[in-house]
Amino acid sequence: MCGIVGYTGSRQAVDILLDALKRLEYRGYDSAGIAVCGKGVQIFKDKGEISSLEKSLPRIHGTVGISHTRWATCGKPSKENAHPFADCTGRFALVHNGIIENHRQLRQKLESEGHRFTSETDTEVLVHLLEANFNGDVHSALRESLKEVKGTYAIAVASSDSNEIVAARMENPLVIGLGVGENLVASDVPALLNYTNKILHVMDGETAVISPDSVAIYDESGAEVKRNPSTVTWTIEDAEKGGFEHFMLKEILEGPSSIHNSLLGSLDGVEEGEFLQDVGFKSVKIVACGSSFHAAMIGKYVIENLSHIPTTLELASEYRYSHGTKESPLVILVTQSGETADTLAAAREARRRGCRTLAITNVVGSTITREVDEVFYTRAGPEIGVAATKTFLTQLVALSLLAMRMGFARRQLDHERLRILKAELRSMPRYVEAVIDGAQQIEGSVEMLAGARDAFFIGRNINFPTMLEGALKLKEISYIHAEGYAAGELKHGPLALLDSRTPVVAACIKDHTYDKMLSNVSEVAARDSPVIGIGYEDDMDLRSIVDRFIGIPKVDPIFSPIPITVVLQLLAYHTAKRKGCSIDKPRNLAKSVTVE
Ligand code: G6P
Repeated sequence: MCGIVGYTGSRQAVDILLDALKRLEYRGYDSAGIAVCGKGVQIFKDKGEISSLEKSLPRIHGTVGISHTRWATCGKPSKENAHPFADCTGRFALVHNGIIENHRQLRQKLESEGHRFTSETDTEVLVHLLEANFNGDVHSALRESLKEVKGTYAIAVASSDSNEIVAARMENPLVIGLGVGENLVASDVPALLNYTNKILHVMDGETAVISPDSVAIYDESGAEVKRNPSTVTWTIEDAEKGGFEHFMLKEILEGPSSIHNSLLGSLDGVEEGEFLQDVGFKSVKIVACGSSFHAAMIGKYVIENLSHIPTTLELASEYRYSHGTKESPLVILVTQSGETADTLAAAREARRRGCRTLAITNVVGSTITREVDEVFYTRAGPEIGVAATKTFLTQLVALSLLAMRMGFARRQLDHERLRILKAELRSMPRYVEAVIDGAQQIEGSVEMLAGARDAFFIGRNINFPTMLEGALKLKEISYIHAEGYAAGELKHGPLALLDSRTPVVAACIKDHTYDKMLSNVSEVAARDSPVIGIGYEDDMDLRSIVDRFIGIPKVDPIFSPIPITVVLQLLAYHTAKRKGCSIDKPRNLAKSVTVE
């Protein structure tokens, strides 16, 4: 996720571009840049937040320009990798949000034609393509260039000899703000609200040409599209959260696009070995903290199931003080922030013990990326709510892809099973979308949980850790005491605590543990506990024995933790909201824990 802004009008562009860009800082903040067209195209960029770029800027004159705030996905955060990028002739400046999947091939081709690259980014190929395809008209050149591109984008281009900004969109947000004698284009509405509330949405496959007095939008065939502007009534603060009351809800709803981004380019890597090329390790150990540890627990089931490689788990805070064994497993460190002190210490300890290390993280250039042998990025975009939501889902995707890679390379997974698993992952954004669309199902359950002091979350096999995560979500944001339990363990203690005031949430997926789960649900119901059952949407048996039923699409059981987690996140969110809790910043908790 990144933020882009373009301005064309009669005012000094730099002031407007910086002000508008600050409204998009929630979309990324590791580097920023600006290009203003006056005497040629002048580009200024730097690592760090927009405010530090602002301090270092000279006075730049010009009434047309583009700007960018970055959340690195390809190439570490640095001045060289910050946007905008210029072509070799210095005619164009370009900013981009998204991922160009075939950038390696395009770069090779362009370099062989003599284009000189200055960054490690996927984006830079776009500006060189533009130069190669330019024949007097920037819009046509951009349309031609996009024909060669595979991936997702929101793009804005400014050029030295024109007051027009040319823009394009594919699966990344782009909106145009209509002013009087001036127009803007941006990744999101908050950037525009200081200047106008008249908004035109650009759709996938469309391009736009924006000048001070006119805006034209074109469809993929090049025909002009007529669209009426809408009037936005949100305040800037509301708009940053996409009109939602809390970042947590916005981030839950971003789950489908985060999963999609996480899969981009990586699905093919399973066979091709773009990641984890050498699979010659005898065992795997996964180390993490908090929600990331629950993702790790699910990862163990997936790895052992798909690759038969023995996998163990350790909390990062325990691993660093434990005794090593003679074996040297591949150590996978899971951390959304890449900055958790215990996980960093565990990475160092693993290397000291001679283990190969791989980090799964969401933050490009974070500390962990410098401490390990290999990094797998989850590409969920920035997460602001303290409770992990979309980053957790993408950790599950990452662990699944690694497990598929291990299974395929070790010949435990044949082509047919791999094909099915890949198709299932490709459909995952749709499955999650379906859970979100069916969110009204959870209302009765929210009422049940909001009135409780204690709650239990039970599951078996791969959904035992899913329920640990569900319990954690509920306790961290609603302050209800919640415990996750392996359903088979209920009879060894917790049954003594169950009564009519203690709701139990049970995940019952039709896998080899299904019958046992139904028995556990009956056991719980016999103690008068109200039961919320989560199962496949057509499961009449489960529906008939629980007090509240929440259906999910029929996914392969191995990926069922993903949609079930989304149900649990929504349950926790709405319960906390009902109780009036501080959802995005729960008491005593922090997003990134950099102390031991
Ligand atoms: C904190 C956060 C949790 C997170 C944990 C581990 O406790 O509140 O949401 O799961 O740290 O963070 P990491 O960045 O290493 O995944």
